[in-house]
Amino acid sequence: SQTFTITVLPGDGIGPEVIEQAIHVLKAVEKLEDVTFTFEYARLGGCAIDEDGTPLPEETLEKARRSDAVLLGAVGGPKWDNNPAHLRPETGLLGIRKALGLYANLRPAFMLDCMVEVSALKEEVVRGVDLMVIRELTGGLYFGEKKRYKTENGEVASDELIYHEYEIERIVRRAFEVARLRGKKLTSVDKANVLESSRLWRKVVDRVAHDYPDVELRHQLVDSCAMELLRWPKQFDTIVTENMFGDILSDEASMLTGSIGMLPSASLADGNFGLYEPVHGSAPDIAGKGIANPTATILSAAMMLKYSFGMERAANAVEKAVHKVLNSGVRTADIAKSKEEAVSTKEMADKIIAAMHEVYVQA
Ligand code: NAD
Ligand code: IPM
Ligand code: MN
Repeated sequence: SQTFTITVLPGDGIGPEVIEQAIHVLKAVEKLEDVTFTFEYARLGGCAIDEDGTPLPEETLEKARRSDAVLLGAVGGPKWDNNPAHLRPETGLLGIRKALGLYANLRPAFMLDCMVEVSALKEEVVRGVDLMVIRELTGGLYFGEKKRYKTENGEVASDELIYHEYEIERIVRRAFEVARLRGKKLTSVDKANVLESSRLWRKVVDRVAHDYPDVELRHQLVDSCAMELLRWPKQFDTIVTENMFGDILSDEASMLTGSIGMLPSASLADGNFGLYEPVHGSAPDIAGKGIANPTATILSAAMMLKYSFGMERAANAVEKAVHKVLNSGVRTADIAKSKEEAVSTKEMADKIIAAMHEVYVQA
């Protein structure tokens, strides 16, 4: 039987609540498949600042490096919001992405038929949406040189947006590979009418495109893409873009589907290693209430089964189970019509686990 070690980083806010349920799902997978998971817990973010004095303890990195994959809840919260950069939870997240070489962030956004009414947009616009935002995750504005200084005219601050050709090439190749397995349509998003880094990006995309003649390529400016995502999202299949554009566009895309509590992500290095986390944050406004939607984290665990462990069948079973439960009208508060009909974090996960058993029996 196969054995995989998973580093689990519950993090802050609703992080531990949704992680607990994703672990239950993985334990259910252990019962259904010939596999054993070893869960290694570690701290990242605000909880690590409080316990270890740093958002990314060395021990956490070492555990992650020794494991086959990492499952993360979310980090951050008001308690640490006024801290200097090196003592911010978000710095720990950026640090672990960089240290583990997780440059390819896959963020699917899909609309299930039974969820159409949850979206703020018109039914005809969102029905059938199925797209993938591929975000460069370890370069660009987030990792360039930062400066802050005083002048006689007041303070000045700057963040450098820098990309090396090899950083663009590897993410773009990955995106073409993903597009090839999806709808064979790739939209590369940049701001090449203004930014030099975008002009280099476009040049690299055009060069790599020669190796993928079967994938239809389009370049689009980021402002126009943001607009088109709301006007007619079904024109998109796979989108590839730099770090900050991808951060913003993936949150925008999540709203096409109703709730950010639904959407998973995979942050991949070369090879099979990856870190898996929901797209949403630590949701301080609902933390501790037991009402967070665990779906995004459970689907992130499914992405881990697929991309890091090659367990396609189990991954599909988790996805099918989620669809089944949503189809039957079970809703957490973020996607429910009324508070009265909403189920808790735990109830949602329990239903998904029960549905997984049914899916396996049928298959
Ligand atoms: P957020 O995603 O935490 O919350 C935005 C809104 O969505 C809130 O109203 C929240 O209640 C709701 N929401 C989020 N996840 C939900 C879920 N699973 N179920 C139901 N509702 C959900 O974004 P924010 O409020 O901008 O950020 C809060 C903190 O999280 C900040 O400290 C931020 O830096 C951090 N953050 C962390 C990550 C991460 O760890 N990957 C990502 C984004 C934000
Ligand atoms: C995300 C988050 C992070 C990011 C923050 C918390 C550093 O918004 O994962 O999308 O901007 O990458
Ligand atoms: Mn974000």
